[in-house]
Amino acid sequence: MELPYFKFFGEKPRVCNICGATNDEVHIYPATPRGGPTPFISEQPVCGKCFREVAEKEGRRLHEPVQDLNLWVDQQLSGIGLGKVERAADPKKIHPTVLKAFQVEITNALLSGHLPRTSGIGLGGMPGAGKSCALAALIRGLVYQNARNKNPFVELQAVSKIRWMSWTDTCHRWRLKPLDDMVARDIGRARSAKLLVLDDLGRETWRREASEDVAIGHLDAIVTHRDREDLLTLWTTNLTEEELIARYGISMVRRLLRLNPLVFLDEATFHPEAL
Ligand SMILES: Nc1ncnc2c1ncn2[C@@H]1O[C@H](COP(=O)(O)OP(=O)(O)O)[C@@H](O)[C@H]1O
Ligand SMILES: [Mg+2]
Ligand SMILES: [Zn+2]
Repeated sequence: MELPYFKFFGEKPRVCNICGATNDEVHIYPATPRGGPTPFISEQPVCGKCFREVAEKEGRRLHEPVQDLNLWVDQQLSGIGLGKVERAADPKKIHPTVLKAFQVEITNALLSGHLPRTSGIGLGGMPGAGKSCALAALIRGLVYQNARNKNPFVELQAVSKIRWMSWTDTCHRWRLKPLDDMVARDIGRARSAKLLVLDDLGRETWRREASEDVAIGHLDAIVTHRDREDLLTLWTTNLTEEELIARYGISMVRRLLRLNPLVFLDEATFHPEAL
């Protein structure tokens, strides 16, 4: 799916010094003076097309850009943990009510390829509202736009700073083999990711005491760490705020949300493509 270009709200106006294109229409790489930040691109702001044309004329060696960006994005999304249904989520098909749950600055940041500066955001509501797909689609936008911006200029690196965790699967695995190496790896990644998605909190099978549940213990430690490090966590749940607090305790729910209220989608929101 071809996604349109979005200009990041926080970006100053920039003009390509060769063709005059502006960052309203296309990504313009900011000036990077020689000896300045690496990689060196150009001493003047420049668009991708002009950058490559000039570099080729000068006989500079250039990397081979990724030809099929959609395929590349799909591979990255798979690598960070999105399943097939989530990878198929389309930013253009996010239900307006679900979209309204996010501040416009946040969707703009994601769709323009930047991580938003915000505390956690929780999307609550009945199954089929489109919560998971909304987050997945926004993450696709983030990865896609970020890659498209960089592609002409630098070689794309595999995405490693975003993590998608389907909580039901993860919780199940953690309960089965709490001391497994893979669990330790999951935890390490979930702790350090710049952006973590916890999908479907509350859908795990109920255990009487959360305090006795090793998986929820790990989750609590991850959430505490991320909150302290000011790392962004987005999550979805089928529970209300009261139910979440009853299950996980008030302190974890506070840490997950910080400044943002839990956005609860009611029954009016049902995605037309949901079964
Ligand atoms: N943005 C989207 N793009 C494509 N399909 C979507 C989108 N949002 C919802 N859907 C469809 O609706 C179904 C339910 O959405 P989902 O995100 O799984 O709901 P929830 O997580 O709220 O239970 C998905 O399986 C998918 O078929
Ligand atoms: Mg879901
Ligand atoms: Zn140009």
